[in-house]
This record gives sequence, C-alpha cells and structure tokens, in this order.
Amino acid sequence: MKQLILTVIGGGSTYTPELVEGIIKGFEVFPVKELRLVDIDEEKLNIVGSLVRRMVESSNVPIKLSLTTDRKKALEGADFVVSQIRVGGIRARIKDERIPLEFGVIGQETTGAGGFANALRTIPVMLDIAKDIEELTNNAWLINFTNPSGIVTEALLRFSKVKTIGLCNVPINFFYRFANILGVDISDIYLDYVGLNHLSWVRRVYCRGNDVTNKILENVKDGLSQKERGIVELINMIPNSYLHYYYFKDEVLEAQKSSERTRGEIVLEVEEKLLEKYKDESLKEKPPELSQRGGAHYSDAAVELMKSIYLDRRDIQIVNVMNNGSITDLPDNGVVEVPCVISGNGAMPISMGRLEPFIKGLAQTVKYYEQLTVESAVEGDIKKAKQALLIHPLVGAKAVAEGLLEKILEENKTFLPQFFGR
Ligand code: G6P
Repeated sequence: MKQLILTVIGGGSTYTPELVEGIIKGFEVFPVKELRLVDIDEEKLNIVGSLVRRMVESSNVPIKLSLTTDRKKALEGADFVVSQIRVGGIRARIKDERIPLEFGVIGQETTGAGGFANALRTIPVMLDIAKDIEELTNNAWLINFTNPSGIVTEALLRFSKVKTIGLCNVPINFFYRFANILGVDISDIYLDYVGLNHLSWVRRVYCRGNDVTNKILENVKDGLSQKERGIVELINMIPNSYLHYYYFKDEVLEAQKSSERTRGEIVLEVEEKLLEKYKDESLKEKPPELSQRGGAHYSDAAVELMKSIYLDRRDIQIVNVMNNGSITDLPDNGVVEVPCVISGNGAMPISMGRLEPFIKGLAQTVKYYEQLTVESAVEGDIKKAKQALLIHPLVGAKAVAEGLLEKILEENKTFLPQFFGR
C-alpha cells in the first residue's frame, strides 16, 4: 500500500486537532506516513503542533509530523493538500461582519457582503498556493475548506490546473442528523441535495431504497421555531441553515444590529481559551471545548473524501465541483454542491436535473454573484465587483453596493494586490 504525504495549509488553525483525530482513526485504510502542518503564524503553529504531536505519539500510529512556515518545503512531493486558511485572520472576519452593518445589510463571513470581502482577499492567495501545488507536489489533490468554500473552489477550478474538490461540513452533518433520527448508519442514507455551498436544499431523503422524506421533515420541524417550521412547510425541503440569512433577512439584520458581539468576536475569545488549553502538556486528544466552533465533523468529511479517492471507492459524497450539467438551471462552468461519485479520478457529479421554481431564482442569482466575485477577485475588476454586490439578494441597491465596495476595498487594502498593486 502506498504511504501518503498530507500537507495541511493553515495547519496552525485551532481546528487542526479535529482533522488529526480523523487521520489517526483512518490510518489503517488511509496511511499517512507524513503529516506536514504549515502556517504563517509560527506561534499558533507551535502550540497547535505540540498538541498534534502528543495526539500522534499517544495513538502509536507511525505518522511523521513536521511543522513549518515554509509552504514550498511543505508541499514537496505531497499527495493530498488540505487548505483551511483565513486570509487576514479572525480580525479580518470581524471586519467582514461589521462593515456591512454600517450599510444596513447583514454581515457574515461567507454569505453576502462579508463573504464577498473574504473572497476578494482569499482568491489571490489560493491561486498562489495552487501554483506551488502544480509545481511541487505529486500531482496532489487539493481539498479546499477555505471559505467562502464554494467561491474559492470555483476560482481554483477556473483559474488553475490543480485537481481541486471543495468541501464543507454541512452535508455530512445532514447525514449524521438524519441517520440519528432513523437509527441507521450514514451509509444507509442517500440525499437528493441541490444548490451551492451554504445555499443548498435537501429535496428528498432515502434510506435503504425507501423514500423517508416525510418522516424526516416531521422530525426536523419538531425541533424548529414556529417561523422556521413555516418555511419548511412552504418549500417541503430541508434548507441549509445558511438560508436563514435570506429567508429571515430582516430578523437576522435586527438581531445582528442589536447584539453586542459578532460571531467572529466570540470566536476570538473561544480561540484564546482553546490555545491555552492546547498548551497543557497532559492533553493528548481533541478537547471537548472545540465543539464550541461550527466545524463539527469536518474531519470526517475530509478523511472520507480522501479515502474514497485513494481507495477508488466510487461511493457518493456531497462536495463542491464544476456543475457540468448536473443542475440544468445553473451554468455548466460554475461550482455547485451536489452528490458526486468519488473515485480515484475525483468527484463526478450526479445528474440532479432542474430546480423547483421557488429555489431556482435564488440559486441562479447567487451563482451569478459568485461568478462575478471570482472574476473581479482574479482580474481586479472594480466594475464586476460592483455588479456582484448589486445583484446579491442581501445587498441589491446601487448606493449600498458602491458604498460597501469602497469601504471593503479601503479596509482590506493590504490584502488586495489585485486592486492596489503589491
Ligand atoms: C460551519 C460552516 C463553515 C464555517 C463554520 C464557522 O462549519 O460550514 O464554513 O467556517 O461553521 O464556525 P465558527 O465557529 O468559526 O463560527
């Protein structure tokens, strides 16, 4: 069995112990002989890396761990690369959450104007990383978690040659949730799932050949507030929780305006505590406090995907890939989040057909917003950037789009070489 080299870019993330736990658990079938964590923040890398070292040592798996700030060195000969970077760190995320509020629109790290700013900062860095992957690795697969995951994946698939698959933990969490309701294994479940990253719908749920959608819908509704139940009844589908920002736009905006802290500000505090915890030499596993972050099960999603590529398993997983006709109502050259057959050749989307009238318009508008965002981020094109914000359903007015863009560019200047030069 060929042993593998796995490089994690953004390895200093406090999430890394979650990923490493999955790699250790999966070692027998997905043998990582070398795990390389690379990060630009050396201090964080060393803290997180020391916990990872203790995790590896106490599990007795023969994984060689290395920590480095030298990305090129970390990529040499790699077979798989996981990307989980955050350009500008949590401070930039907080700006993405705060700036839109000044213009009366929702501020969120992946959705709307905040996700847009994040994409402008992140896409040039990811394309640089892609160049290094092309040059230095063993034709590695790039598993992209970097947010906004769907938009970044589209930039990589359109503007680099790297074999990229975009990933998010939302789909796998649906599997766990439904399997739990039905008392079955996640491998017993198949989802008719359509949309984009953080903008998706579960249309039907099947279990061992039976359509169990109604049972799941009833169960899901039980756990919802009355207004949320109303939306599930209206569309008869299970919406991705990020659709909340669209279906309850006004309420979310009011809640954001009146809350003292943004999610990023809360995360900053959680991170500090986690890092303190990680320094504890007696800690040899992922601490329970990590569950305060939103990334639950992201390691399962990553390891399952890499396993299926490595073992040519040809199973079905929901990932972000080029549409290529899977959803006939969305452009072929745009990234979608759909069920795909995962094999040694990568992810092949299954034909999902048309979108229902009440989800089609939103999916199309957001897809074209994403495409304009990718193009403006790559080309440094102000006009496309304005057009992107102008059509976004959470922005959608000329004065707001222009004011926001000006402020976003100004506040992110140091991260936007495509607009300001290096
Ligand atoms: C979910 C989303 C991720 C996002 C995370 C945020 O996992 O799918 O895209 O990064 O939540 O969690 P946080 O703890 O950073 O708010």
